[in-house]
Amino acid sequence: MKTVSICFVCLGNICRSPTAEGVMRHLVAEANLVERILIDSAGTGDWHIGQPPDDRAQQAASRRGYELAALRGRQIVAADFERFDLLIAMDDKNVAALSKICQPAQRDKIRLLMEFVPETDSRWGGAREVADPYFGGADGFEQVLDQCEAACRGLIAALSPQLTR
Ligand code: 4NP
Repeated sequence: MKTVSICFVCLGNICRSPTAEGVMRHLVAEANLVERILIDSAGTGDWHIGQPPDDRAQQAASRRGYELAALRGRQIVAADFERFDLLIAMDDKNVAALSKICQPAQRDKIRLLMEFVPETDSRWGGAREVADPYFGGADGFEQVLDQCEAACRGLIAALSPQLTR
C-alpha cells in the first residue's frame, strides 16, 4: 500500500505548523486516508520544545472543530529528512533553515504550504507565506486557519492520484 509522510514546519511549532497538522489530520480522516497520509509537525527553533500549541491557536482551531491540545512542540532534526517524504514549510525563513540541515539531494523534499492553494483561490493574492501570527492579534490566527484549510485541501488533491494503489 502506498503511503506518503508529511511534516509541517514553522519556527516555534506552537502556532502555524500544529494548526496545519490539526487541519490536515481532520481533512485526511474525512477523506478516509488516515492509513495513507502520515502527518507530523516540527519547529526550526528550540524555544517551545515539549510545549502544547499556543492558547490562541488552540482556541481558534477548536472553534472550527480542530483539536490541537495533545500536540507538543519539537525541533526538526536532520533525521526527519529520512523519515518524511515532504517537509512543508510555512515561510521562506523556514525553508532556509531546513535547507541548512538536510543533504543537498534531500532539498526537493522541502515545499511551501501556500504552493498547494489552488490558483483560483485569490484570497491572499498569491502569497508565498503563512505569516507568523505569534506577535499579532486574533485575526492572524484566523488567517492561518483559512490558509491551512485551503492549502491542505489542495495538498490532499495533489497527493490522491499517487495513493490509489
Ligand atoms: P510559529 O509561531 O512559528 O507559527 O509556531 C511562533 C512561535 C513562537 C515564536 C515565534 C513564532 N517565538 O519567537 O517564540
